[in-house]
Amino acid sequence: MTVIGESQVREEVKKGRRQIVYLQGDIITPQAREAIATFGLELVQGPLPAPEPRVVDPATAVRRVLYRSAPRWMAPDPPVGLRPRRLSRLAVVGAGNVGTTVAHLAAASDMAAEITLVDVVAGLAASVALDVEHSSGVTGASVKVSGGSESGLLADAEVVVITAGRPRSPGMDRAGLIAINGRVVRSVAEEVAAHAPEAVMVVVTNPLDEMTVEALSASGFGRKQVLGMAGTLDSSRLRYLLAREAGVSPRDVQAVCLGRHGPQMVPVLSRATIKGRPVGRVLSSEQIQRCVEGTIGGGGAVVSLRRTGSAFLAPGHAICEVLDALRGQRAGMIPVSVMLEGEYGMEGVVLGVPALFGKGGLIEVGEMGLSEEEHRALREAGEGVRASLEAARALSV
Ligand code: NAI
Ligand code: 2OP
Repeated sequence: MTVIGESQVREEVKKGRRQIVYLQGDIITPQAREAIATFGLELVQGPLPAPEPRVVDPATAVRRVLYRSAPRWMAPDPPVGLRPRRLSRLAVVGAGNVGTTVAHLAAASDMAAEITLVDVVAGLAASVALDVEHSSGVTGASVKVSGGSESGLLADAEVVVITAGRPRSPGMDRAGLIAINGRVVRSVAEEVAAHAPEAVMVVVTNPLDEMTVEALSASGFGRKQVLGMAGTLDSSRLRYLLAREAGVSPRDVQAVCLGRHGPQMVPVLSRATIKGRPVGRVLSSEQIQRCVEGTIGGGGAVVSLRRTGSAFLAPGHAICEVLDALRGQRAGMIPVSVMLEGEYGMEGVVLGVPALFGKGGLIEVGEMGLSEEEHRALREAGEGVRASLEAARALSV
């Protein structure tokens, strides 16, 4: 007889497992059962039958022969056995470029029973909602989409994505938006607290880390319920650039970006791999440096080309990655900005770190092994966020 506890469930989740197998007579604690439900895992009675011999498709067989000398060069098989939950109600505040994209992608993947958009511009949110609903004849999605200007539309939302506020213009630093967007995010967070006190807020408005702090303080929510999205976007840009330099698919690249959404971003190259090999063994230091600069300057490059407004397609996908983690569609840790409570030696500051999510928000922050230089850069990023908020507060009094 084995006692299956909550910590064992978490360990299985960290390994990317989607099932908890128990044997007759095993005891599953109530906390373990709650964690199983939170992570959307499957509880299966064992012993499981021996797996069927795997039938390998011809393309995979050829790749295996080609890479026989380095089997770790194979891309991992996609995880199987996922049992994602549909969100009951997803609210998106700000029906501009990013808000529209996330509503559109979320609806197309049918990830929520209801999606509602809210925007101060009369008719904008309702027009986007109608447009998204019109696409369901092609996508077949059964999600109900609505939109308007009243904050009452946030009622009972399970997750609220905040994209309300101004994007930057060419030559403008994200931090230049702090005063104007701070007021917007604070008022939206107060409305969320009033209408959807159980909701998880995913802040997107820039400057991201500072706006996540504002949402936390204005809502009075704990850190579990308030996340900032930028790490999944920055990591996507980093993986794309590394893959392009190496001439491989982004699927072959494992890399993550932590820290602040801006020049103090921390691409974690000490742990990055391309086809399972450390990046430094695949790319030259000049190539790696190009990728780092391209990642840090990625958002700015889009802004300079567009002239008005900033990126919204990759951000939309990156927000969906966070939503997928919240609903159990995605296993393992993702980089998200959260309030630190001692992790990485920092306290009371919001920063992008790897974290595990489930229904209800943050489960735990992951302490990733970093090089000394990366650790120092992360601490400096934390100080940067703190200083920028203090400077903004000093200006406003
Ligand atoms: P946008 O200008 O297209 O849309 C913003 C929308 O917010 C507008 O429709 C506006 O009417 C609305 N809005 C303003 N105040 C509001 C309020 N109080 N309540 C409801 N709606 C309100 O801008 P876009 O491109 O959608 O970007 C939105 C924000 O997201 C910007 O601050 C941008 O910098 C940020 N962003 C952050 C990313 C990240 O990685 N964290 C990625 C991309 C954008
Ligand atoms: C970006 O990185 C605008 O912050 C946003 O594209």
